[in-house]
Amino acid sequence: MGRYLLAIETSCDECSIAIISDEYDIIAHEVATQLEHSQYGGVVPELAARKHYEMIGPVFQKVCKESGLTVDDMEAIAVTRGPGLVGSLLVGLSFAKGLAYAYKKPLYGIHHIEGHLTSVLLTEKDIPLPALGVAVSGGHTHIYIIREWGIYELIARTRDDAIGEAYDKVAKLLGLGYPGGPIIDKLASSGEATYQLPIPVMRDDSLDMSYSGLKTAVLHIVKKDRERFIQEDDEKPQDLLNLLASFQKAAIAQVLDRIEKASQKHNVRSLIVVGGVSANSLLREEVRRLGKTLNIPVYLPPLRFCMDNAAMIGVAGWIHVHREEPPELDTLDALPRWELAVAGTV
Ligand code: KG4
Ligand code: ZN
Repeated sequence: MGRYLLAIETSCDECSIAIISDEYDIIAHEVATQLEHSQYGGVVPELAARKHYEMIGPVFQKVCKESGLTVDDMEAIAVTRGPGLVGSLLVGLSFAKGLAYAYKKPLYGIHHIEGHLTSVLLTEKDIPLPALGVAVSGGHTHIYIIREWGIYELIARTRDDAIGEAYDKVAKLLGLGYPGGPIIDKLASSGEATYQLPIPVMRDDSLDMSYSGLKTAVLHIVKKDRERFIQEDDEKPQDLLNLLASFQKAAIAQVLDRIEKASQKHNVRSLIVVGGVSANSLLREEVRRLGKTLNIPVYLPPLRFCMDNAAMIGVAGWIHVHREEPPELDTLDALPRWELAVAGTV
């Protein structure tokens, strides 16, 4: 019999459970996305928690049925501990703790961003280290050095909004829907980047980023001449498409600039880009091009593993098992604002 781990992810609006083998093969995987939030233009925390509570039992049953395995067959359980919405995290954590107590299994609390970083191991086992690990999502725009799996050194981060948050806020102010990333990604391909938008550089020599100015610049342009950007019917005005293309170009140029500088400064052997925004078509293209210029391999998760999922939490769980770290059970609480690593430390 193989070695299996049960993984649970409920940090935001995806309710996901997976069973992963110690070689990171997916034995079973369910991702139930809560669609209820789109009408509110963003995730409603209270609603998300209630939906997780309804969904987690059926999702667990499906995974057991799909695999023909039970918790008895698991070597360990891994669950996202933070960061995320506290109510959502608590549903996953309580469920995981209940199983761990009942079946006497070791339980590991996983950092959501470690999950994203390890998502590339689901499809690629031999990634040369040290790697530059870039997490671009709705809550993160963080760059890490990964010298070994399980230890992450933070070298740059956004000082305000995350890149995905900027996508979501711009889509909201233009009445385009939620989540904004995939919508803008699609529309921007029919526009031309005719608007000049800011690409901030820090005054000190840090590689930190900033995305709130970009969103505000878009807001000022729209406020000045609202009719040009707001659609009356299904037809999107060309000005709107051009503004979206300009926003996307500036958003990606900034993170790309930091990735290039960080790769050169830290002499890394590979480049890993993960998280919801790593699904972006322009970002994927530009990152691959940069990898060729820098002559280092680039690893991007396949689209289905860019968004939140439990398979990646399973990989991160195995990493902690392989490192022979002690499991936590009694001390495991939700950490909604947990940092994976503090700048300059490992
Ligand atoms: O990793 P994720 O599923 O959740 C967080 O951990 O935040 O990322 C969600 C974020 C949202 O902000 C969403 O708009 C963005 O990823 N996103 C995209 C694309 N697909 C999702 N952003 C740009 N282009 C996309 N194609
Ligand atoms: Zn995420």
